[in-house]
Amino acid sequence: MNRPARTVAVIAAVALAAGACSSRAERAEVPADPAITAPASAAVAVAPTTSAALPAMTVYKSPSCGCCKGWVEHVQAAGFTVEVHDLDDLTEIKAEAAVPEKARSCHTAIVGGYTVEGHVPAPTILRLLREKPRVAGIAVGGMPVGTPGMEVPGRAAERYDVLSFQTDGSTAVYESH
Ligand code: CU
Ligand code: CU
Repeated sequence: MNRPARTVAVIAAVALAAGACSSRAERAEVPADPAITAPASAAVAVAPTTSAALPAMTVYKSPSCGCCKGWVEHVQAAGFTVEVHDLDDLTEIKAEAAVPEKARSCHTAIVGGYTVEGHVPAPTILRLLREKPRVAGIAVGGMPVGTPGMEVPGRAAERYDVLSFQTDGSTAVYESH
């Protein structure tokens, strides 16, 4: 009778010791944390520029537009995953997205809750997604030569503005190139 009881006590003591040991090991990991968080936070800081962290983009364009295709390739190269919809008439899409008349261009993209109209450079889209201003979208009106997708060999790039716009039709210069 005595022996089994002692065995149980020994097993219990071993279990307790093991428990204490594992909890000590868990606690021992805490001081090591700062060393781990340094590379971890560095990875977080890098994340927004990787495709995994970028919101998906939907592009509405005309099926025959070559410069639209060039711009889609430009944003894909920047890491965006793009879903392309070819439409013969984009008027309805642009009206729905509240793109002001003077800011309209050949294609309309929707990304991260914003409208991106025309040949906006990818770094400007990344800035928009990072800064999250209170605007409906940004746009490069018309099709200035030298914008992504609108490169013309032998022709100098035009100066142009990326405009931000609100749903009431008001615009402001977001970036000058
Ligand atoms: Cu175009
Ligand atoms: Cu286009």
